[in-house]
Amino acid sequence: HANHEDRAEAVRFGASGCVLTCAYESSAQAVKDFAVREDDVWVVTPPKCGTTWTQEMVWLLVNDFDYEGAKAKPLMHRSPYLEFARFLTEVKKQQFLGGMDTVDYASKLPSPRCIKSHLPKDLLPDQLWTKKPKIIYVAREPKDVAVSFYYHDQLLSSYTGDKDFFFECFYEDIVGYSPFWEHMLEFWKMKDQPNILFNTYEEMKQDLPSVIRRTAKFLDKEINDEQLTRLTEHLDFKQMKKNPSVNVEPALSKMREKGRIKDDQAFIRKGVVGEGRREMSPEMAARFDERTRRVFNEGVGGCPWKI
Ligand code: A3P
Repeated sequence: HANHEDRAEAVRFGASGCVLTCAYESSAQAVKDFAVREDDVWVVTPPKCGTTWTQEMVWLLVNDFDYEGAKAKPLMHRSPYLEFARFLTEVKKQQFLGGMDTVDYASKLPSPRCIKSHLPKDLLPDQLWTKKPKIIYVAREPKDVAVSFYYHDQLLSSYTGDKDFFFECFYEDIVGYSPFWEHMLEFWKMKDQPNILFNTYEEMKQDLPSVIRRTAKFLDKEINDEQLTRLTEHLDFKQMKKNPSVNVEPALSKMREKGRIKDDQAFIRKGVVGEGRREMSPEMAARFDERTRRVFNEGVGGCPWKI
């Protein structure tokens, strides 16, 4: 991110050494002290793993399929991204949040709240582990995450450098929210706890209705066949791509008007599995795969993906 004019210095936080901006230093404790409620529903993921897709699914399940409500309010307001405002520069906070403080906003939302966070286990609010609200975690195969993150940063002009160098930085754990592997490992280890549901992007791509059913069951929500069909259609990639409520609007429209991004560029980009293998050099892909095998097999003796 070093070549962007509105740049912020990066700092490592917590035992995990999570990379965030130095602005976060003054807020890390406030986020750890955030008051959690037992009836919250949290969506926790590393960036680019299918967070938005999952947030929309979860919000509609929690709010009894209120499609009108979902259309009327941007996802950022229905399912706030807890720590977002606290690591942004003032310029970006205005651009993406209209100045809203996400921690304050989330603290005042009526129950049941749907809250999103990309923080790793050690930086999340302490009360998550005592109040034990339901947490839906989403993981994605790391090569594909790196590709998605590269295009995300390009879209938002936070990175204008070389693609291979971005993958190198991702591997070396110096892009935002690194290290990604250990983030996923920590939740993979907790996946059998009753208040944690561990989904993957690949399962959602392969069989979305099954993931919706499993998530509904986890949330103690009934879903009939008709409701399942409608929700599956609503969450379809083509529908989501043209849905302004889930595409970081109005920020991206403003960027489009200024010619900074093309008309067909949206936050929801391509939505496929396996881009990592196509976009990375064979050497880099092998390094990613070796690390995925090592982290999961040495860490827990099992891996979410067949690598
Ligand atoms: P790509 O960049 O590979 O297209 P997040 O919400 O965590 O930032 O994740 C973004 C990724 O999820 C993007 O991946 C985006 O296209 C994908 N995504 C979002 N909605 C989707 C959907 N309905 N179906 C498939 N992929 C989706």
